[in-house]
Amino acid sequence: MAYVQMEKSAGCALLTIDRPQVLNALSPAVLTELAAAVEETKQATDVKAVVITGAGNKAFVAGADIAAMKEMSPAEARAFAQLGHRVMDAVAALPYPVIAAVNGYALGGGCELALACDLRLAASTARFGQPEVKLGIIPGFGGTQRLARLVGSGWAAQLIYSGEMIDAETALKIGLVNAVVPPEQLLTAARTLAEKIAANGPIAVRLAKEALRAGLEMPLAQGCRHEVALFTTCFTTEDQDIGMGAFLQKEKPLFRGV
Ligand code: CAA
Repeated sequence: MAYVQMEKSAGCALLTIDRPQVLNALSPAVLTELAAAVEETKQATDVKAVVITGAGNKAFVAGADIAAMKEMSPAEARAFAQLGHRVMDAVAALPYPVIAAVNGYALGGGCELALACDLRLAASTARFGQPEVKLGIIPGFGGTQRLARLVGSGWAAQLIYSGEMIDAETALKIGLVNAVVPPEQLLTAARTLAEKIAANGPIAVRLAKEALRAGLEMPLAQGCRHEVALFTTCFTTEDQDIGMGAFLQKEKPLFRGV
């Protein structure tokens, strides 16, 4: 792949958006490659967590590709937004936790990509924003929806209507990121978190993600019923027996994913 690199180690897939000359901007070609890489990690039996980052030290992703969008007709813009949504949805729906390692600018479609991930770690140099209104458009890859759900409608309104950027510490304060680390420690921190997740019962982690994600779309009572159903499913797995047995034997569980 020209624009998305994939590396696997210790149950973790690292996807790097690799177009640093334009700050990793998402063109249709980059989005198509990202979709293929996401599908490959979905099919991989040896992957239990995914980290997404940007190449270079300046940007995670500085947005959808403005040069590619400039001459789009309304019909082309609709198809582009639909492609972006398909990719963000595919990232969000991966059966394993996805960590955004935000190593610089996460603007527009880049912030939206981070929002589609389950967890976000930021370098202290990272900057976040939805600057689309400065270009005469609105967020098109889910920003108007996922940002408000994560940080609340007040901060979402401020970021989306003003187009202003916030720094990593502000992103931490409003709950947009889980942690801020020195830039040189970002990938290690993301990998360590991914490996911590990968060491847990993989079916349990997958069902926990399903419960969390589905619950966001449901009324509380329905979400709680769904949790009971998924909790019950855990008790049909060998991993439940392995995990509880290991605890009682004071041993480390060796989960089998069955
Ligand atoms: N699309 C296309 N090219 C981009 C880009 C983008 N989103 N962001 C940066 N680039 C390009 C620049 O045009 C520049 O190319 P040249 O070297 O050929 O001139 C190169 O990347 C380096 O960028 P700058 O020279 O601008 O770097 P800087 O350090 O001065 O500024 C920046 C960095 C503040 C991030 C600035 O590049 C910037 O504001 N980028 C655009 C951010 C933006 O508006 N993102 C939202 C896009 S719209 C969107 O994403 C819609 C959606 O929701 C789907």
